[in-house]
Amino acid sequence: MKSHAQIILKFNKKQYVLGYSFKRVAPIRIAIKNIKMDFPIFHLDFMGDRLLIAIIAVIHVLINHGLAVGFIPLVTLLEYFGFRKAKQNEVVDLAWDNLARRLMTIAFIITTTLGAMTGVGIWLSASLVNPASIGSLIRVFYGAWFVEWMVFVTEVVLIMIYYLSWKKSNISVEAKSKHIMFGVKLSIASWVTMAIIVSILGFMMDTGSWVENKTFVSGFTNPIYLPQLMFRTPLAALMAGSLALFLTMFLTPNGSDIRRKASRVIALWMLLATPFCAIAAFLYHHKIPTLMIGNLPVAIGTMDFQSWYDLLVYFIFGALFSVLVVAGLTFFKPKIKIPKLLYIIPVLGMLGFAGIFERIREFIRKPYVIGNYMYSNTLRKDEYPLFKRDGLLKYATYSPVHEVTEENQLVAGEQIFLLACSRCHTTNGINSVTEKFETMYSLKEGEKLKPEMMKSYISHIENARYFMPPFPGNEKELDALIVYIKSIQENRVPVEGVQEKGLQLSKN
Ligand code: HEC
Repeated sequence: MKSHAQIILKFNKKQYVLGYSFKRVAPIRIAIKNIKMDFPIFHLDFMGDRLLIAIIAVIHVLINHGLAVGFIPLVTLLEYFGFRKAKQNEVVDLAWDNLARRLMTIAFIITTTLGAMTGVGIWLSASLVNPASIGSLIRVFYGAWFVEWMVFVTEVVLIMIYYLSWKKSNISVEAKSKHIMFGVKLSIASWVTMAIIVSILGFMMDTGSWVENKTFVSGFTNPIYLPQLMFRTPLAALMAGSLALFLTMFLTPNGSDIRRKASRVIALWMLLATPFCAIAAFLYHHKIPTLMIGNLPVAIGTMDFQSWYDLLVYFIFGALFSVLVVAGLTFFKPKIKIPKLLYIIPVLGMLGFAGIFERIREFIRKPYVIGNYMYSNTLRKDEYPLFKRDGLLKYATYSPVHEVTEENQLVAGEQIFLLACSRCHTTNGINSVTEKFETMYSLKEGEKLKPEMMKSYISHIENARYFMPPFPGNEKELDALIVYIKSIQENRVPVEGVQEKGLQLSKN
């Protein structure tokens, strides 16, 4: 491909050609000798890259929903009750106020440490594993991210003020009302940060009309945005209610007035959120299959999909049922003694439910990382014809080889594995590609993989399993990949990511 303008740089005895080309799929890009996959590949071959992001992200979501978005308004409400119930010549009712403050202590410590670290951790891990998709998302959501950052900073400042000025605010009615207002503002800021990010999550599942008109507004208002936001809001309230109820059992004296009254308030909070959560879960659940069914070319895909959804429905009912039973008994039959530890059931139910929900959301988006635009292997859908024609390696900046030859098949195959399969598979770790092939062909111990079968499978991989992207390279590269997969079946040498192997710029 010819460039219109070229700058030749000599650096370290190597020659780089920088060129602006206007004929590309992407309008203007700086290319190094036309090579454009400009991120080295990070890879964890034992646990797989997906798991790294998943662990960090799920912890973050549980903390964010359970101890911030849903929790802060509940704590503020309890604080308000303490304020309202104050006797004459008192600013607050200390029993209520102390309970609210202690709940807030727990939320404060966890959100500002583990919560904040995992929040940054999501960006770190996601941009290591799939920098191209983060790049695309930043281009579309630049403004939203900027606002997100501002709101996040506001949230941090507010949480500091709210928590650290709590005791001082108990001196006067004015100070206390002001303090409660800080709780309200903090609640709003926490919800807004979630509301912005949820749009990006929805966009990754279904870009909606953005694919045609590429505007920020069309991306932000993607079809899954509102149903998902409507679902996450009461979900957060329920997670927070379950946690607060459990904690209240430990923060208040046995048989005390405050335990009975406060747990009834929290139980009512949960009972009110449950129907909203159930209805929104239904709407959301309903919205996704209708959009994704078009992506499912084979019945087996549909069956797979279906079983995931059965699991989701099962969890929704199980978790919501446990919440209803515990909250219902606490509210309507406050005299019944429920053993303290049983209050952990709704907490685990809600955490499990939220975790499973996140996993499914991530899974059903496949084979795309950004719906209908970029595959999970970091390659854009519209770049595929180019790769199929010229081969993937030609454009792989950090590959030591750019064309498959008789001699370099193994090295080339490893690169193809890294480029085409390693975002989701390892060689011999979790979701190992050799093990997948061995199970699929029901090979016996020690039996070798057959190249012909693998070749016909990989050439139509997207038809066999809708969640995998089509093979992106040319035929020689497919052969090299097979040689490589066969070699790892035999010698089990793990593949190294750039963090272990170091950076290699191409020699030619
Ligand atoms: C978008 C992520 C993704 C990419 C990219 C991907 N796979 Fe997969 N692959 C999966 C998942 C997920 C499974 C199913 C794992 C499970 O639940 O068992 C799978 C399963 C498989 C299976 C077993 C299928 C079956 O029916 O039993 C094979 C074989 C396989 N992958 C090969 C490959 C090869 C070769 C590549 C690279 C050319 C590749 N995959 C790229 C996600 C991916």
